[in-house]
Amino acid sequence: ADNRRESLMVVSAYAAKFFQEAMWDTPEGKSIGLSYFRERGFTNDIIKKFELGYSPDQWEAFTSQAIKNAYQPEFLVESGLSVKRDNGQLYDRYRGRVMFPIHGFTGRVIAFGGRTLKTDKNVPKYVNSPESEIYHKSNVLYGLYFAKKAIRDDDNCYLVEGYADVLSVHQAGIENVVASSGTSLTVEQIRLISRFTKNITILYDGDAAGIKASLRGLDLILEEGLNVKVVSFPDGHDPDSYVRKVGSNAFKTHIEQNKKDFILYKTSILLKEAGTDPIQRANVIREIVESIAKIPDSIKASVFIRECSQQLQIDERILLSELNKMKLGKA
Ligand code: CTP
Ligand code: MN
Ligand code: MN
Ligand code: MN
Ligand code: MN
Repeated sequence: ADNRRESLMVVSAYAAKFFQEAMWDTPEGKSIGLSYFRERGFTNDIIKKFELGYSPDQWEAFTSQAIKNAYQPEFLVESGLSVKRDNGQLYDRYRGRVMFPIHGFTGRVIAFGGRTLKTDKNVPKYVNSPESEIYHKSNVLYGLYFAKKAIRDDDNCYLVEGYADVLSVHQAGIENVVASSGTSLTVEQIRLISRFTKNITILYDGDAAGIKASLRGLDLILEEGLNVKVVSFPDGHDPDSYVRKVGSNAFKTHIEQNKKDFILYKTSILLKEAGTDPIQRANVIREIVESIAKIPDSIKASVFIRECSQQLQIDERILLSELNKMKLGKA
């Protein structure tokens, strides 16, 4: 099994190199792939550091080159780089896309995300590697390899949704940033982060989906005993588009000025949704106390109870008795 894993890593490294050369060293790659990244404002340094590339707009450019170089079809298919037709022939999964290699914990390439350059709504924006022996999506955070050191130094990890968010935020000088790649955060991902810091700051997209995603991820993080802050962005912006719009200094200021503790953030969003309806407000209170009940540190939990009692305008003792009921209910 170790041999198989090694073979998959070797073919992934080869593919990353192929996509890089296809971008830097061919007219199609330069005029389409490289100019795309340039138009998005990425510098050569960032493009090279993250080993971004381009997949030629052909059916077999990669696969035929890989076969010629004696890479085995079995691993081309398992890695998802090639797809098998019914007649057994292989073709390229990624065609005419800009390529984001996904690095594992030790910096080796284990998977890819490929972004379309088309604006056609019927084409999926990103095509990603399937699960394989070396790639378990739920155990991976995009950018972690490049962020590890800065996460430790800053004792905080910024969490964003997408590939481009990682690149732009990193380029703005905030290197302690990783992406959950659009899915909601898993326990495995949270445990990866907690090896380096107990503090997470969520920078999710300023749309309804992004806000929902950050609320979902939150309770899991609390259960793992981490501290969570949330920064929201104006509607329609994600960290990438926002930093490009305002520049890196204003971006950092925005983060500092809009950082909210997760529980208080959740409270304010849910309260806004509930309006003045008493039954809905009671549900909000219960939901918030439920979140607080997940915090393992009881001193921390009691601080949140106090702050939320002010925000919810409800007696602290009532919240505390709810909290205790919930804890007993769980036991
Ligand atoms: N994603 C995906 N497949 C899709 C759409 C999204 O895998 N069809 C993942 C990607 O990792 C993407 C992340 O979810 O980076 C966030 O999605 P979204 O906000 O829609 O994309 P952006 O990252 O903002 O993409 P871009 O800025 O390149 O348009
Ligand atoms: Mn495995
Ligand atoms: Mn989004
Ligand atoms: Mn974006
Ligand atoms: Mn986005």
